[in-house]
Amino acid sequence: MPNETPLVNVQIDGLWHQFPKGTRVIEACAQVRAYIPHYCYHPKLSSPGNCRMCLIEMGMPRMGPDRKPELGADAKPIINWMPRPQISCAQDVTEGMGIRTNSPLAEECRRGVMEFLLINHPLDCPICDQAGECLLQEFSVEYGRADSRFLEHKVKKPKRVEIGPRITLDDERCILCSRCIRFCQEIAKDDVLGFADRGSHTILTTHPGKRLENNYSLNTVDICPVGALTSSHFRFEMRVWFLKETKSVCTSCATGCNMIIGSREDIIYRQTPRENAAVNSVWMCDYGRLNFEYLTSTDRLLEPAIFAGNKLQPADWKKAIEYAALQLKHFNGWDMAIVASARMTNEELWLTSQLARQLNVSLIDVVPHHDAGDDILLSQDRNPNINGAKIVLGLAAEPGARLKQIAESVAGGRIKALIVLGEDPTQFGITVDQLKQLPSFIMMGILHNAATPHTTALFPSAAYAEKRGSIINGRGRLQRLNRAVRPPGEARDDWEILRDLSQAITGSNGIYTIEDVFKQMADSVPQLNGLSLSKIGDLGLKLIATPQGTTTPVPPGEPVDEKVFEREMARAPK
Ligand code: SF4
Ligand code: SF4
Ligand code: FES
Repeated sequence: MPNETPLVNVQIDGLWHQFPKGTRVIEACAQVRAYIPHYCYHPKLSSPGNCRMCLIEMGMPRMGPDRKPELGADAKPIINWMPRPQISCAQDVTEGMGIRTNSPLAEECRRGVMEFLLINHPLDCPICDQAGECLLQEFSVEYGRADSRFLEHKVKKPKRVEIGPRITLDDERCILCSRCIRFCQEIAKDDVLGFADRGSHTILTTHPGKRLENNYSLNTVDICPVGALTSSHFRFEMRVWFLKETKSVCTSCATGCNMIIGSREDIIYRQTPRENAAVNSVWMCDYGRLNFEYLTSTDRLLEPAIFAGNKLQPADWKKAIEYAALQLKHFNGWDMAIVASARMTNEELWLTSQLARQLNVSLIDVVPHHDAGDDILLSQDRNPNINGAKIVLGLAAEPGARLKQIAESVAGGRIKALIVLGEDPTQFGITVDQLKQLPSFIMMGILHNAATPHTTALFPSAAYAEKRGSIINGRGRLQRLNRAVRPPGEARDDWEILRDLSQAITGSNGIYTIEDVFKQMADSVPQLNGLSLSKIGDLGLKLIATPQGTTTPVPPGEPVDEKVFEREMARAPK
């Protein structure tokens, strides 16, 4: 028998409901759409109960002489209401509890708390980055006063304090909720923030000799309910209401944190975490969220090019694709090698596998990328889709195992045509001089690198935020990338480039959209049978194989079963 949490009966605003024992009062109220304003409460942090914004009226069942609750005419407990308001964020519901969230007393309390919070607030909303998503603004609409009764001078506090390489603090805006302090202690495990001084002179500051520089520091900006903690990178760059929000996934490591890309007119201004209990909770690391500036780098490849007239020169897409296809048709499969990237989407990897099959190439690999990880979110595996490479590309060996052989074959002259997709071959042992000697060296990529000047055909492709597609994170969760901005210049979606190259070689057609690619991939890859891009959903799904070999999507939010995924890996086509 499953160990079920017992339910308790609670009256909220006159109606009785049931909640599992242990539910916090503020959360129980939210579940029945009785929203309680709050500042210091955060569902993923401890509750100190220090802002007092969540005050409500609360009562307990009246006990009779037999020490049992007395029942009223409706056969429900009669409630004894407490004379003083109570906070709702730091206590759990109990049997027979009564709650009034919108009584005159509760509302009067909120008006009082708001007035106190605003006494020393600088009211600089017109120049505050938080404007538009500020809880102080939001609650003052309902509970603030139109005029101020405070005639004295406001307390002056430090402004524009750089408390870390990515964080700027405005102490006058701080409402002393302590969310940032608790985040550093409880999530980032880096106890660097605290309060100093007393009363209305209290300020938030870093501990002596310390800075807020951990790799999760920008989460404090997300959870600060006001504009006290701001991102030095985003500060004054864009009003938040102008941002287009696109749901996508971070591709800077194998964790695949869910995120929202904030962009305007094809420029990304910020990336913020999106809640997914099975992946990143509500957090993401600073490294991943700031890793988008290369999209606007001057090193972007902007137009296709071919080697003609003894130099690499721009060509239109049709000519470049035909040129590359003509070159490749000259060689046998054993004269060729393909190095793909585990940063590519499943769709791109599947088209790569089709290209390899059409060209009869068996020497194929992807490049592993590793760096320091941590115990919070950041993975050592900096490839976002190594599991996709294993399942979809059908590698014959562990990722990276054949790179040495490829480099040696290029050096020995056995490989005459090399296709490199999204990687730099000089990083895995092939020298520039060896690349120059190759009769055919075709590259697809985002940025110029040491190898690009020596290609015979060069294709500019799209970065993660410029395309759609799917990836499988390190724990086996299939997730979706969405396009937030358009690729620059003549750069195109990688899947389109691969499809065109494949069609130029074989003369086939029939793939017009990325949905077509997914369908063909899902038909041939057992783990993806029956899925489509739209079925993946915003929160992704973990891949579970039934005994018959079909794939069963399950609702998101459950912890990923590593063993199930290991079995999936074992079943990947070789
Ligand atoms: S800086 Fe923001 S999160 Fe930190 S205590 Fe002040 S208001 Fe709260
Ligand atoms: S932990 Fe990995 S996936 Fe998450 S934000 Fe950081 S780099 Fe991106
Ligand atoms: S949210 Fe309850 S005291 Fe702050």
